[in-house]
Amino acid sequence: GIDIKTLRASAGVITLDPGYKNTGSCESAITYLDGEKGILRYRGYAIEDLAEKANFLEVAYLLIFGELPNKEQLDKFHSDIKANSEVDEDVKKIVDSFPRTAHPMGVLSSLTSALTAFNPSCVDINSEEDMYNAIVKIMGKFPVLAAWTLRRRNSKPYDYGNASLGYVENMLYMMFKKPNEEYKLNPVVVDALDKLLILHADHEQNCSTSTVRIVGSSHAGLFASLSAGVSALWGPLHGGANQAVIEMLEGIKEDGGDTAKYMEKAKDKNDSFRLMGFGHRVYKNFDPRAKIIKKSADEVLGDLGVEDPVLSIAKGLEKQALEDDYFVKRKLYPNVDFYSGIIYRALGIPTEMFTVMFALGRLPGWIAQWREMRLKKEPIGRPRQIYVGENLRPFVEVSKR
Ligand code: ACO
Repeated sequence: GIDIKTLRASAGVITLDPGYKNTGSCESAITYLDGEKGILRYRGYAIEDLAEKANFLEVAYLLIFGELPNKEQLDKFHSDIKANSEVDEDVKKIVDSFPRTAHPMGVLSSLTSALTAFNPSCVDINSEEDMYNAIVKIMGKFPVLAAWTLRRRNSKPYDYGNASLGYVENMLYMMFKKPNEEYKLNPVVVDALDKLLILHADHEQNCSTSTVRIVGSSHAGLFASLSAGVSALWGPLHGGANQAVIEMLEGIKEDGGDTAKYMEKAKDKNDSFRLMGFGHRVYKNFDPRAKIIKKSADEVLGDLGVEDPVLSIAKGLEKQALEDDYFVKRKLYPNVDFYSGIIYRALGIPTEMFTVMFALGRLPGWIAQWREMRLKKEPIGRPRQIYVGENLRPFVEVSKR
């Protein structure tokens, strides 16, 4: 038989890098990230400037098309998105068929995939025009689907919102507008959400983005690729961390608020508990997004007059972690999700929807990465492996086993 060594030799040289800790999967001109220095830039613009001065739709355009839009380009982008936001009436039947208790991320992933069936023209992408049509369709429909997952949960009628509103304003309107009641938008809430969406909009080749690129590399349609991205984002080690952080902080509060006890649990290698919202694959310094968000959390809670005991637990944990040898040695700093959940909570967004909010922010990043991959005609993604199983074995009949 062939032994493992021979197999390895016949496969040529293979780099083994579990978790792709040091493997580049592509060349990309979208997001620059320096994890040691804590730098994040979209298309060359500092995240701090974008969070402070741009709105989410401008950032979406920048990520996808490479340049900040002028007024005319931005207006056209927005009106094309609005003109494409309607989903097929039959999609409502699909939304209705999910249990009310279903996790919104599972529902959102299924609905995004289902869109392919209702928009077959978006699968076969042969030109930049095809690409643009698919992009404005999903930018329009994805927030509708996200809002409907919440409305299904709350037994509220489905709504397309108000076309006169901005992109982010309409997201809130679609989620929270009650029938026969006026919905008043709070500018503090709109600003905070805009900032959060910008901070989440792209983060180079993370788990969900790599998923979108690799699914897209088989030329599966944009919506199928994005649906896979939503599933990847759902996990608590990735986007699901924002929900996990709040659940952890609430658990600590209910258990008497003893943060030191949880610090010890997180350090205990026989305990699977991890301090959610701490650590990052790439940042070995303060996550620049967490810095912006931390400041924003204080402002938003102050402006809205919210006193959240969970925030003081978060601050206590942060202080202890920054002074603790275990965390310092491993360079485990609070990440963006440590504070985002606290803001979402203050904005009145239910905990199970936190990761959906992340997905709404990450959508333009996923689209930009998919577009870049298709325009560069990248080959199908197909990693290799080092086989470590059995050598050739003689087959034994079932009666003789
Ligand atoms: N609490 C306690 N210990 C931790 C934590 C944590 N949150 N994160 C990492 N460590 C420890 C590990 O146990 C390991 O210790 P060891 O060297 O003694 O074995 C060391 O730090 C390195 O950790 P890895 O898991 O190897 O780091 P990796 O890069 O694979 O993981 C990850 C990064 C998944 C983010 C991890 O830090 C984690 O699980 N954090 C908590 C979940 C979280 O907040 N995820 C959100 C990430 S940000 C985002 O997706 C937007």
